[in-house]
Amino acid sequence: MLIRDTLEGYGIVSRLFHWLMAIAIFGMFALGLWMVRLDYYSPYYNAAPNFHRDLGMLLLLALVVRWLWRAANPKPVSDDLTPAERKISNVVHWGFYVLLLVLMVSGYLISTQDGESIDVFGWFSVPSIFRMPGLEDRAGYIHRLFAYAVIALAVVHTLAALKHHFIDKDDVLGRMWSGPKARPKSKEDNSQ
Ligand code: HEM
Ligand code: HEM
Repeated sequence: MLIRDTLEGYGIVSRLFHWLMAIAIFGMFALGLWMVRLDYYSPYYNAAPNFHRDLGMLLLLALVVRWLWRAANPKPVSDDLTPAERKISNVVHWGFYVLLLVLMVSGYLISTQDGESIDVFGWFSVPSIFRMPGLEDRAGYIHRLFAYAVIALAVVHTLAALKHHFIDKDDVLGRMWSGPKARPKSKEDNSQ
C-alpha cells in the first residue's frame, strides 16, 4: 500500500486525512447549527457544545499535521486537468487550509475568551492564551461566516469532483479515493 504521495497520486495518509476530515467538517457544521438552537432544558445543552469544541480542537491538530504532511510530500500532478483547472484547484485547496484555520482558531477564541481552558475529551487541556473585551462576539461572527464559506467551497469542490468523475470520466476522483492507478508493466519489467 502506498503511504506517501507521489507525482501520480495520493497515498493512504493523505486520503485518510481527506475523507475523515471531510466527514467531520460536514458533521461539525450540522452540529454547530443544531446546538446553537437548543434551549436550556435540553439534555444536550452543555454536552453538544462540549463535544463540538473537543472535536474541533482535534481537527485543528489534524489540520496542522495534514498540512505538514502535504508540505513534506510531492504534489500529485494530474494530466486530466487543464492548466487553468490546475491553477483553480490549487487556489481552492489552499483556500480550504486558510478558511479552516481561521474557522478553528475563531472557535477556540469563542471558547476560551473567559479564561477557561478546553479539556479535550479528558485527554489533554488547551489553555486560554488570549482575552479581550468583546472578543466572543467578534470571534462568533467570524466563526459563523467562515463555517458557511468552508461549506460553500466544499459544495463547489464536490460538484467539480463529481463532474470529473461522471461527465469527463477521468481519474481525478479515483486518485483521491483509491490512490494512483497501477502502472501497466513495461516490457523491461516483464523480462525481469
Ligand atoms: C470543522 C470545524 C468547525 C465547523 C464546521 C464549525 C461550525 C460551527 C457552526 C455552523 C456553528 C453555529 C454558528 C451559528 O449559527 O451561530 C458553530 C458554533 C460554535 N462553534 Fe464551531 N465549528 C468548527 C470548529 C470549532 C472549534 C475548533 C471550536 C472551539 C474549539 C468551535 C466552537 C464553537 C462554539 C463555542 C460555537 C457556539 C457559538 C455561539 O454560541 O454563537 N467550533 N460552529
Ligand atoms: C469539507 C469537505 C472537504 C474538504 C475540506 C476538502 C479539501 C480538499 C483538499 C485540501 C484537497 C487537496 C489535497 C490535500 O491537501 O489533501 C482536496 C482534494 C480533493 N478532493 Fe476534497 N475536500 C472536501 C470534500 C470532498 C468531497 C466530498 C469530494 C468528492 C465527492 C472531494 C474530492 C476531492 C478530490 C477528487 C481531490 C483531488 C483533486 C486533485 O487531484 O487535484 N473532496 N480536497
